Amino acid sequence: MKVLVIGGGGREHAIVWKLRKSPMVDKIYCAPGNGGISQIAECCSISVENIKGLIDLVKKENIDFTVVGPELPLSMGIVDEFSKEKLPIIGPCKEGAKLESSKSFAKEIMRKANVPTAFYKSFASCDEALSYLENKRLPIVIKADGLAAGKGVIIADTPEKAMGAVRLILEDRVFGDAGRKIVIEEFLRGEEASMLAFTDGKTVLPMDSSQDHKRIYEDDKGPNTGGMGAYSPVPVVTPFLKERILKNVLEPVVFQLAEEGIEYQGILYAGLMISDDDPKVLEFNVRFGDPEIQALLPRLETDLMEIFLAMYEKKLHEIKLKWNPEYAVSVVLVSGGYPGDYEKNIDIQGLDEAAKINKTVVFHAGTKFKNGIFYTAGGRVLNVTALGKEIETAQDRAYAAIKRIYFDKMQYRKDIGSKAFAHLKGKVYETN
Ligand code: AMP
Ligand code: GLY
Repeated sequence: MKVLVIGGGGREHAIVWKLRKSPMVDKIYCAPGNGGISQIAECCSISVENIKGLIDLVKKENIDFTVVGPELPLSMGIVDEFSKEKLPIIGPCKEGAKLESSKSFAKEIMRKANVPTAFYKSFASCDEALSYLENKRLPIVIKADGLAAGKGVIIADTPEKAMGAVRLILEDRVFGDAGRKIVIEEFLRGEEASMLAFTDGKTVLPMDSSQDHKRIYEDDKGPNTGGMGAYSPVPVVTPFLKERILKNVLEPVVFQLAEEGIEYQGILYAGLMISDDDPKVLEFNVRFGDPEIQALLPRLETDLMEIFLAMYEKKLHEIKLKWNPEYAVSVVLVSGGYPGDYEKNIDIQGLDEAAKINKTVVFHAGTKFKNGIFYTAGGRVLNVTALGKEIETAQDRAYAAIKRIYFDKMQYRKDIGSKAFAHLKGKVYETN
């Protein structure tokens, strides 16, 4: 089969890397791809939102199947457009993708499906939002309704900050149209974890647990980023909790959507806050998490192409996922200055040496390849994933590989995976 993967980050490198292991896959195209992906797939410089260009590519190259990495084309209705042309693709339709592209839509579905989440109210009027804030307990969380590249969430610990956030989003429109509406919700305490699932709209097949590290510095300090690292599995998500998340969160949402005439096929990602074995939904994403999937896919032993085909043919009940029981730790190497301004086009050294560390794989996120040299091309540059029987072994391998990699102003967190220890020693680690 010929497969197209849409996207160009670490998530897509991991997807391409995993699909290459499938005996069913003969050739992989990636649009637009990146430096690392260009070594194992044919990269086509078509942007992820150029749906017409992507359809033309699929027709011209006789591509059999398309996989969508990022949320933007899904929210624009790429699956609906491909389906009109009878081109096989996996991912939710535009209406289903609203679970991520509209926080008020997601909240409404959760309310109807009785899914545990923070108490909330949504507003389009600034005055109404401001008067709602009076006498509310702090901190309080203000969220832009639409897609805001992970920046649309403000946690306010003073009334001034809360009112300022409402005005910034609804009046000043700092997030553009994503801020036509806001959701104001209760602040939840606990530890965050991600549960992703494959679904064909009828069967929901949960993946193993994973945990992102969103803040730039160790111990969850500093501003939020697109993700500084992940590990899997996560001890806070016990087998009991996993079942509870499937039955109380993932399945009810897919079934509620079906009841409303929205057939949800693709990846469903629940970002959860866990406290005392009680998971509450912070957000839904409609695609693989980045960098969670860079930790999950190296542990997945089942053929990914087989899973995609089963989802597409609505035969997911026939699949049983098999996971390597080892831990995976994935550390993100970022450009100095990220998540603020940073330089690009810095040459990267030591990648071959890093790849020699046992059970380690380096995924590229923001890189480009020119005349035999890899250069930085984004904020998040590389994801170094390593496996190990103990989480320490996986960490040791990942950090040993990182020691061999160098680019000017390279930065990374030194504590990816360490939250697991608190649970392994029976102690609860609270992020808030
Ligand atoms: P979201 O994009 O909705 O996942 O929000 C981004 C981040 O903001 C989450 O990963 C949490 O760290 C934090 N967050 C969002 N909602 C809440 C909440 N209700 N209580 C506490 N933290 C939150
Ligand atoms: N890891 C968070 C996300 O993919 O949105």
